[in-house]
Amino acid sequence: MLKVGIIGAGGIVRNAHAPAWRKLIDRGDARVTAISDVVRAPAEQIAATLVADGTTPTVYEDYHALINEADIDAVDICLPHHLHADAILATVARGKHILCEKPMCISLEEGDRIVEAVDRAGIVYMSAHNELFDPGITAAKGFMDRDGIGKPFLIRSHEFPTTYNQATVPGRPAQATNMIGWRASRATMGGGVLIDKGYHPTYILLYLAQSEPVSVTAMTNTFVAQMDGEDTALVLVKFANGAIGQIFTGEGFVFPANDAKFHVLGERGEVYGNRRDVYVKPRGFAEPSSQTFPPDGVSNFDKEIVHFWDSITTGRPPIQDHRDGRRVLEVIQAAYRSVEEGRTVELPLSGGRAQPVEETSREAAAVTSGS
Ligand SMILES: NC(=O)c1ccc[n+]([C@@H]2O[C@H](COP(=O)([O-])OP(=O)(O)OC[C@H]3O[C@@H](n4cnc5c(N)ncnc54)[C@H](O)[C@@H]3O)[C@@H](O)[C@H]2O)c1
Repeated sequence: MLKVGIIGAGGIVRNAHAPAWRKLIDRGDARVTAISDVVRAPAEQIAATLVADGTTPTVYEDYHALINEADIDAVDICLPHHLHADAILATVARGKHILCEKPMCISLEEGDRIVEAVDRAGIVYMSAHNELFDPGITAAKGFMDRDGIGKPFLIRSHEFPTTYNQATVPGRPAQATNMIGWRASRATMGGGVLIDKGYHPTYILLYLAQSEPVSVTAMTNTFVAQMDGEDTALVLVKFANGAIGQIFTGEGFVFPANDAKFHVLGERGEVYGNRRDVYVKPRGFAEPSSQTFPPDGVSNFDKEIVHFWDSITTGRPPIQDHRDGRRVLEVIQAAYRSVEEGRTVELPLSGGRAQPVEETSREAAAVTSGS
């Protein structure tokens, strides 16, 4: 029986993580023994939904107290981004397993410290890359791994909201696209939409690419959202095998109509689709074949949390670990560096510092500028 402490009691816990843990509690495989939030009321409300055998999870206002004092084997971290590294490192120091929401942290210096500490502690660290559990993505990945389209050439990966954000932020003008609280501030968000919503298409791109990223060229802007960081980002990633990837994300617009969430063109055809459907069009065919996965009451978060439990109980490595979390962050930090310096940035980045641009990465820059 896995004993878990949830850190943070905001939207993602209420809507996704707590219901997923509830299912594991009902299966008899887990207990949520503790939950923490600086604001007590939402933590108490969520705790009331996680009662097991008449016992309610203990509520802590200080997550360090939860990590150090609660009866737990693992934590599920769902905090604002600037607190992730602190919560992860405090948990690693106690030798507990970790599931952490995206992004792993907000700087590569933090990322390097986390990689080193997790490796040393030998715990299970799972990056909560929930969209990898969407059946459309799983099917596309399986098809590509079976060499269904041959070598990939172009890979596009998108993420936009499905509805406009109606919340307002104290001290900022009321508009339909205002960002909630900590997401409006670069200090607590770690950037803009790219490190938040854009984290999903970035890990999906890296997951599908079958090659290491070698350079990054990006453009961002803030068009409508009331936030310090960008509300729109377009990033080009060049891979070692020559493939070109594109990440497109925004906070101020709903998902572009009729646009596939991911689209891969390769030497023998294309595979594209959305969370619950996948299309395959071999080269030379006019129409694709398709597969649709109807809703089955099991969310990608349900699958993610079962997967985390499975990794701890069986010793099988998680689908994405701390190194994958750092790898996604590295592409995002390279994109921010590219915007700041107006140039293509080569990977790997070391300690957040960009490598000098080599001639090879200028091709990607030429694609961005349309020259
Ligand atoms: N995978 C996804 O699709 C997805 C969707 C939404 C959010 N998220 C991620 O989940 C995390 C949380 O996002 P959210 O939408 O739930 O945010 P939120 O603002 O709704 O919740 C954050 C919670 O953290 C609490 N908090 C702030 N400082 C704290 C502290 N020092 N100690 C304890 N609690 C503290 C706040 O009171 C709040 O309840 C972020 O990393 C975000 O990127 C992921």
